[in-house]
This record gives sequence, structure tokens and C-alpha cells, in this order.
Amino acid sequence: MLPYLPVTTKKRIAVIPGDGIGQEVIPQAVKVIQAAGAPVELTNFDWGAERYLRDATTVPPNGFADLQRNFDAVLVGAFGDPRVATNIHAKEILLGMRFKMDLYANVRPVFLLDASLCPLKGMQPMDIDFVVIRENTEGVYGDLGGVFKQGTADEIAIQEDVNTRKGVERVIRFAFEYAKKNKKRDGSARNRVLMCDKSNAMTHAGGLWQRTFTEVACEFPQIETSHMYVDALCMQMVRDPRCFDVIVTNNMFGDIITDLAAGLQGGLGMAASGNIHPGKTSMFEPVHGSAPPLVGKNLANPIGAILTAAMMLAHLGLSREAEKIEKAVLEAVQQKQTTADVAGTLGTKEAGEWIANAVSKS
Ligand SMILES: NC(=O)c1ccc[n+]([C@@H]2O[C@H](COP(=O)([O-])OP(=O)(O)OC[C@H]3O[C@@H](n4cnc5c(N)ncnc54)[C@H](O)[C@@H]3O)[C@@H](O)[C@H]2O)c1
Repeated sequence: MLPYLPVTTKKRIAVIPGDGIGQEVIPQAVKVIQAAGAPVELTNFDWGAERYLRDATTVPPNGFADLQRNFDAVLVGAFGDPRVATNIHAKEILLGMRFKMDLYANVRPVFLLDASLCPLKGMQPMDIDFVVIRENTEGVYGDLGGVFKQGTADEIAIQEDVNTRKGVERVIRFAFEYAKKNKKRDGSARNRVLMCDKSNAMTHAGGLWQRTFTEVACEFPQIETSHMYVDALCMQMVRDPRCFDVIVTNNMFGDIITDLAAGLQGGLGMAASGNIHPGKTSMFEPVHGSAPPLVGKNLANPIGAILTAAMMLAHLGLSREAEKIEKAVLEAVQQKQTTADVAGTLGTKEAGEWIANAVSKS
């Protein structure tokens, strides 16, 4: 039996920096959380490549149960290390958290803080403000399939795409609820949900998504609905991202379109995400990976991790602290007190410190 930790009024956060630049950006996010005076208790976990190489542990026994029982949220950096060619630790930790803690909705807000960050001409901050809700526990990421006659000219590889009625329905309902409960950054209503699939080619899975979307939409008559095939959506995202509000899609399409969307907001270093199951311990992570070429150079942008921390605090009901952090990030971007990927000259640590100072002064 796992011990229950003593009850505290503070929110308990498990911090797992992980690999590569996760080890550099998460300490900056932690510094900013502390500067905001958020009533939290932070506990560091050493899960990642270093631990795996040391003692072959990916997730310690009862690791996920510990997170679920003793923590209100989990703040994660990134996983992936060139020394672990199989990537087994990343798969077991990251996909393990998503699947075994059943964090079925991956929420990725996409917003532009400053016109200078967007590669599209003429886009102003309020023009780009949408959210992608990605199904997070099914699809092609379930590792169902196999390889036959490996290494021969007749090799066959099968990767199954799993879509269950329960999985599809709950993430679609989550997207509608999200649209109902959340406002846009300018205070206006979020009242449009678009479902993205490839049902013209992937008819079986697409059919399930289509039927479920239509049925769930009936419960939300105040919300406008639409549909796009994923290929057309990619084109539209660079032609005119103003048309998007809430997008709901499957695991793989969500993975891909949110990197494209991150490009609109200044790159992967700017993008935040939450892996959520309402009512359960949820996990928050920047969208980027471990970026091996940047490791140890103090070059990684900490803003994605810092905005992720703000998103986590807001999820935990600490909206005042979250707002302070977002405001300080905006000031940093406007004053170019940032890393080089977003037009500044600061290092990772210095950019984090600048934001932490701005937060503590507010
Ligand atoms: N959630 C995760 O943990 C996650 C997500 C994606 C990739 N990965 C892993 O990360 C490793 C590298 O993968 P990748 O190169 O495809 O993706 P990546 O996100 O690490 O890097 C992609 C590009 O974005 C840049 N970049 C990423 N984060 C940045 C930041 N904070 N500041 C400035 N630039 C940044 C990188 O330099 C690189 O050019 C692999 O092992 C992969 O499996 C992990």
C-alpha cells in the first residue's frame, strides 16, 4: 500500500523535468511559480533518461498511483535522449501518464502575443486565439500492430488506428464544454467547435467521429459547429487562422497540427499544453520535445514551460497567479527580454529570471 501524504491546503505539484532542455526550462517555470506566490508545494521527480541509464527504471513501482493519489497536478518538461535509442523510457513515462492516468483531453491553446512573432504577414495578437483539443489516449499511439518478415523484402508493418465510441465521445463533449466555459482572450465568447478528421479516406474511424460529433453537438445548441478534413485545415491554418476557435481532433492529427499552430505563435518554444481528465490529477507540459542540439547551451526558450505553469495554476483555481505570469510573459515578449528564437538576446536562465522578476513586482 502506498502511504497517503499529509493533508495540506497548498496545491501539491509533482515536477518532472525529464530530459534535455526539460532540465533547463522547468527550473525557470518553477522560479516563476514561486515568484507569483502561488500556494503550492513542489516535489521533484527524477524520472527520465538519466535514471533509466543508471538503474533501468522508467516508472518506479506504483509511480502513477503515487501521482494520482498524492498530487493535484504534474508539471513535466520533455522526454527523449539520444543515448536511449529505443526511446523506451519516454514511451513508458509520457505515454504511460497519458494512457494509465487516462488523461484523455490534450488541450493546446494557440495565441499570438505579439505581431512580430508570427510568420504570417499582417496578423495581430487578437487574430490568432484558438484551442486544439487532441484525443490523447487512442488512435495510432496505442501501439497496436506488428511487424512480419522483418528485414526481408517482404516485410509488412501494421499500425492500428483505434477509435472507441467512449473515447471519441468524451473528447468531443470535452471540446463543447470547453467552448461553453471558456472565453477568448479579448473577453468574447468561444462558441464555435470544428471537428477535424480525414473521413473521406479513413471512412471507418472517420464515420465514428462524424456520427458522434453530430450527436454530441445536439446537446449544445448554442455552439456553432463545422468540419474540415485535416489537409484542408493545414492549408487554412496558414492562409487565415482567424477562422478557428475550438478544434477537436484525433491523437495523430492533433499532434501534427499543433506543431504547425505553434509556428504561428513564434515556434515550439512558445507553446503550452495540458493533458486533462476533469476531476483527476492532470499533467501539464510544454509542446516542445527535449531538443538535443540545444542542451547545455542556455539557448532554450523557457516561455512554453512558463505558460504551461500558468495553465496548470489556472486549472488548479489559482487564476490570479496565472494571470500575473501571463502578463509578465507578454511584457517580456514586447520588450524582447527573451531568447534568440523569439528575437531576444537572453539565455534560458536570464529570460526566466526576467519574467520571475516582473511577476514578483506585479
Ligand atoms: N512531449 C515530449 O516529451 C516530446 C515531444 C516532442 C518530441 N520529443 C522528443 O524530443 C526529441 C527531439 O525531438 P524533435 O527535435 O522532433 O522536437 P523538439 O521539439 O525537441 O525540437 C524541434 C525544433 O524546435 C526547436 N525547439 C524546441 N523547443 C525549443 C525551445 N524551448 N526553445 C527554442 N527552440 C526549441 C528545436 O531546437 C528544434 O529545432 C526526440 O527524442 C523526441 O522523441 C518529446
